[in-house]
Amino acid sequence: MNELILGIETSCDETGIALVRNGELLADVTATSMDEFARYGGIIPEIASRAHLESFIPTLDAALEQAGVTLDEVDAIAVTAGPGLVGPLTIGVSAAKALALALDKPLYGVNHIVGHIAVDQLVHGDFPDRFIGLVVSGGHSHLLKIDNIANTIEELGGTLDDAAGEAFDKVGRLLDLPYPGGPHIDRLSQQGDPHAIKFPRGLSRGKDKVSHQYDYSFSGVKTAVARHVEGLQARGEELPKADIAASFSFAVCDVLVEKAFAACQTHGCDTLVVGGGFSANSMLRAMADERAKELGVTVRIPPIRYCTDNGAMIAALGWSVANSGEVSSPLDITVNTGLPRETIVVR
Ligand code: KG4
Ligand code: ZN
Repeated sequence: MNELILGIETSCDETGIALVRNGELLADVTATSMDEFARYGGIIPEIASRAHLESFIPTLDAALEQAGVTLDEVDAIAVTAGPGLVGPLTIGVSAAKALALALDKPLYGVNHIVGHIAVDQLVHGDFPDRFIGLVVSGGHSHLLKIDNIANTIEELGGTLDDAAGEAFDKVGRLLDLPYPGGPHIDRLSQQGDPHAIKFPRGLSRGKDKVSHQYDYSFSGVKTAVARHVEGLQARGEELPKADIAASFSFAVCDVLVEKAFAACQTHGCDTLVVGGGFSANSMLRAMADERAKELGVTVRIPPIRYCTDNGAMIAALGWSVANSGEVSSPLDITVNTGLPRETIVVR
């Protein structure tokens, strides 16, 4: 039995380190370099990599102290092996390999996207036998059918262009909001009318709906917002930012929710688990709750601190794979920036 799992997440700009013992979260510490990116309007991988190097040992020490354990008590090490940015991923995987070698414990190079779903079991308990996972973040929007989080996942669909969070960040720029725009649009939209402007819903009609039943596309709605803003500016009119934010949010969340619940119905799943930074979005949460009540589906969304990137999600997934008897990763694994969703452990 692998009781105590160390989880390491460095795929983007958060250095996250956590410890899980028998499915219970003992510690979860995160250092972020996000503040350094506000002035660039996006993440600079080299700066994020350097920040991981600086933060790694202090974050590890803080996590061990918070958990009240020492390194030699750790039974297995889980680390994000992809998808993500190559430099940041390499730093986490290198550190994890060094720890696995020094402690002579198994290493599990795991999937970041699956981690966004796995973390929910720390909060809401064991998963049902089969359920649908919706992962929505700055880099990813995927619908997954999950039979066993440790070994059996099928990707039903994903975004063909922008991820939901990415589209929010781009519209944030159009509306002159600070980076990242997602949380600012969320706040603004709470004061606006979601029906004020009719923005398009990607892949939701006719042939597209049939051939891309579970796929998403958010670049069309983003472009529609850009045209709308340009039109108002050309006429010298003031931007109704709250209405634009609310109508845009509604267009994105409507499609996310619609397709996720359609997947639940088609595949006979009574549980939908939502994860990823975008699942912090208040409109998504409200719309999902409403649809869930109508359809008798249970929606599980972890608290916001577990939706953005963190170490707990990787420790949680490491705990599932280690205790399902999955073969661990050899010490010569590399990182995979485009790791497929079906690959839960890299070997
Ligand atoms: O999962 P995450 O921390 O990083 C990635 O793996 O991408 O997600 C970050 C994304 C950003 O695009 C951010 O704007 C978005 O999640 N986000 C939100 C909200 N909070 C974070 N988007 C909409 N509404 C929010 N409340
Ligand atoms: Zn993420």
